[in-house]
Amino acid sequence: MIKLVCDEYIAGGLSLNDSKEIAKMTASAGADAILANAGNKDTKIKTIPGHSSKPGTMVHLASGIKEVVDIPIVAIGKINTPELADQIISEGKADFIAVARALVADPYLPQKAMQGRREEIRGCIYCLEDCFENGAAGFGRACSVNPFAGQEYLLELSPAKKRKKLVIVGGGPAGMQTAILSSKRGHQVILFEKEDSLGGQFLLADRAPFKGEVKELLRYLNHMLRLTNVKVILNKEARLEDIIAESPDVVVLATGSNPNIPDIPGKDLHGQTSLSMPPVYEIREVYKHRPDLGKRIIIIGGGDIGCETADMLASDNRKITIIEILESVLQRMKSIPREDILSRLREKDVKIMTGTKVVAIESGTVWIEDKDSNRSSLKADSVILSIGSLPEDSLLDPLKQKISEVYPVGEAVQPGNIGTALRSAAKVALEI
Ligand SMILES: Cc1cc2nc3c(=O)[nH]c(=O)nc-3n(C[C@H](O)[C@H](O)[C@H](O)COP(=O)(O)OP(=O)(O)OC[C@H]3O[C@@H](n4cnc5c(N)ncnc54)[C@H](O)[C@@H]3O)c2cc1C
Ligand SMILES: Cc1cc2nc3c(=O)[nH]c(=O)nc-3n(C[C@H](O)[C@H](O)[C@H](O)COP(=O)(O)O)c2cc1C
Ligand code: SF4
Repeated sequence: MIKLVCDEYIAGGLSLNDSKEIAKMTASAGADAILANAGNKDTKIKTIPGHSSKPGTMVHLASGIKEVVDIPIVAIGKINTPELADQIISEGKADFIAVARALVADPYLPQKAMQGRREEIRGCIYCLEDCFENGAAGFGRACSVNPFAGQEYLLELSPAKKRKKLVIVGGGPAGMQTAILSSKRGHQVILFEKEDSLGGQFLLADRAPFKGEVKELLRYLNHMLRLTNVKVILNKEARLEDIIAESPDVVVLATGSNPNIPDIPGKDLHGQTSLSMPPVYEIREVYKHRPDLGKRIIIIGGGDIGCETADMLASDNRKITIIEILESVLQRMKSIPREDILSRLREKDVKIMTGTKVVAIESGTVWIEDKDSNRSSLKADSVILSIGSLPEDSLLDPLKQKISEVYPVGEAVQPGNIGTALRSAAKVALEI
């Protein structure tokens, strides 16, 4: 079988017409099948499509090649559901479907689809985070949504030796994942969540441009949780006495994190970040409450969320500036999504100032300093703080004094991302 680049998506590169000729020669030379691929090293996003590419983005190439040869043609590229795969085959656009990342996210996808367990498929969210390039720090190639990926030899889902009563505090992704796995192992589980729905911060993750498909993770976790006997208690902030009242053998602290609020003079003029002049908002507030931010918006922090927020807020009549203390933005994002979002920020004329720190916020003005300590000022209608989070683990020590087994998981241990949260949850759930 030949994996043939059928369009390089670059001026002067291979086009579908060129590839049709190559396909004919390949078939006459004895190839058994052709897999219709695309892109080259400068257009990698075509080869490994991310959030901004549509599902089945290369199918037209497969069908184009299929028109000119008689050997089987394989379609690939963000074929993200069994339904789409079926449709491509039934419409005669390809003879076979190839799937890469969706099988990293859920190696049992084909079995689940065949057995009618469609809802149990853990879909790839096409984030290109933990599976790509050097993978996840400390783990290598892994997967953001599948905590077992790359660790199958270490993590075993076996029945618990002793059935215990668990209280899980916090129904974000880490708490949900812990609840699902520990319940599957036979433990009795109660899950407290202070909000009216499960998902934690990740409920906000689908709002930036092209990120709608990350919703899939919470759909999956909610579905899997419904299949268990976990008792979910929503709208309940668990305090120490509430947890103790349940007489648990084990407490898992999955309380997530709080936004990091830096000590910038002026930012808390009125004692609250959202009331100072210009108004200063922490990032989650912007997503949750959509405050009126005015026309000139300064985002402090050029990490993933800061840049995605700029992408979300930028429009013709708004001037967005990202201030980043490091030498470049998006340092932890992998190359394909990084280049994708940077190209949109360039198109939207978002100004990025690196090697720059904010030193004071005053009425209508943000004072900044470059690495040579030169100060200057920027006018702003509002400022958004996106400089990471700090673990919310205030219940940890009090709990340890009352309960012999207490495990923090997810961002309650260390702020990170969905991959780090789910892996830490799975590790604890399989050890209890
Ligand atoms: C805007 C935004 C976009 C993001 N996008 C991405 C992304 O694209 N990819 C990615 O990998 N990560 C992303 N993240 C980060 C990701 O959402 C977090 O890493 C992940 O949600 C951490 O999971 P967690 O369960 O540890 O904590 P959280 O999601 O913070 O969940 C903690 C939960 O505990 C609850 N809780 C706290 N205290 C109590 C208590 N005493 N009683 C009951 N409940 C309590 C909270 O209400 C919350 O629901 C994003 C975050 C934000 C804010
Ligand atoms: C982490 C990773 C590594 C890959 N390595 C290769 C490779 O070595 N050779 C190759 O032909 N394709 C490679 N690919 C591309 C995939 O084979 C596939 O063409 C691409 O991911 C699109 O399919 P998908 O949307 O089902 O993931 C890789 C993809 C990923 C995500
Ligand atoms: S890390 Fe992201 S893109 Fe890669 S397989 Fe997992 S969900 Fe899909």
